[in-house]
Amino acid sequence: MLADILERPLRNLRLSVTDRCNLRCTYCMPEEDYIWLQRDDLLSFEEICTLVDVFVAQGVDKLRLTGGEPLLRRDLPALVSSLAARGDLREIALTTNGLRLAAEGPGLLASGLDRFTVSLDTLRPDRFKVLTRRDDLRSVLAGLRAVAHSPRLKLNTVVLRGVNEDELCDLIRFGCDIGAEVRFIEYMDVGGANRWSPEEVVGRERILELVSTELGAIEAIAPDGPAPAARYRLSDGTVFGIVASVSAPFCSSCDRSRLTADGQWFRCLYALEGTDLRGPLRAGASRAQLEALILAGWKSRADRGAEERKALARRDAALTAESGRDDPHLEMHTRGG
Ligand code: GTP
Ligand code: 5AD
Ligand code: SF4
Repeated sequence: MLADILERPLRNLRLSVTDRCNLRCTYCMPEEDYIWLQRDDLLSFEEICTLVDVFVAQGVDKLRLTGGEPLLRRDLPALVSSLAARGDLREIALTTNGLRLAAEGPGLLASGLDRFTVSLDTLRPDRFKVLTRRDDLRSVLAGLRAVAHSPRLKLNTVVLRGVNEDELCDLIRFGCDIGAEVRFIEYMDVGGANRWSPEEVVGRERILELVSTELGAIEAIAPDGPAPAARYRLSDGTVFGIVASVSAPFCSSCDRSRLTADGQWFRCLYALEGTDLRGPLRAGASRAQLEALILAGWKSRADRGAEERKALARRDAALTAESGRDDPHLEMHTRGG
């Protein structure tokens, strides 16, 4: 089996299908203007499927469609149908902000998508408006209703100091109502636009304290694979997760990589450089040549970005806000979260 320098397999591919988004969350896209990827540079569905072929041949068996906001990509169900028709993927999932889920969700499930993860940081319309710069929590909630109780539905909540710490238990209860498992995410220092600072992070220990104060005893569930979220159970059986990428990174078992919408392959969320796969693909590279690129890229992978960030004596924003303007691939919304 293909393994990297740290003996980690290549299993999990995060496929960004667009860098555009219809929200402007403060922790991800706070700027007024962005340099967008060139339309001509976006991979077509046919090109995406060719690359997926090559990745699957090297061990990938789990795909996650991301953005930006993936539901902004036209005809997405057609891509999902082609990917599902392969029959050799363990799972095709999608992470969305939920705004267009009421219209698109059921069709995507019918096309073969296995599950959704929906970002939801607050249940309060006023907070949603400040956090996302769009006054439309209502559409997200309608979207969630449309896919409520679908298989392994998850909610992602980025916990921000002084912003939504007081809503964690409400979100857990809401998750129960719609059949979704909530995961609380530590705010990460990816990209530069968000001007991250350590003071804004609410760490795992604090999250556990906030939840147990209101909802009682919490039991840790033994991990069953290299998922980023540690899972916990409340005494009534409700399960929630914490993605502690800042305080407890999971690089040692990281089996994931990312393909941007314009075909740059990144082997770490924090990587400054990727491998251009679009260029060779459009220049007529053979399948064997593409496989060789991926093989060489993974074999030489030593990335452990989150662990390296954690080891810094003093941790501030990873990049300046300007760096993302010079190279849009450095920002979270382009590399797919
Ligand atoms: P599951 O398959 O449901 O476990 O999905 P996931 O948690 O892998 O994906 P999701 O898109 O829901 O991301 C959840 C959080 O984990 C987001 O904040 C991501 O930015 C973060 N995350 C995803 N992949 C990585 C990674 O490779 N490294 C780090 N450090 N964080 C990641
Ligand atoms: N830190 C942690 N999570 C983030 N996300 C976006 N930006 C950040 C960040 N800086 C989350 C989104 C989405 C997931 C893919 O990543 O909320 O749920
Ligand atoms: Fe994987 Fe890099 Fe995230 Fe660590 S920081 S878990 S190596 S993507």
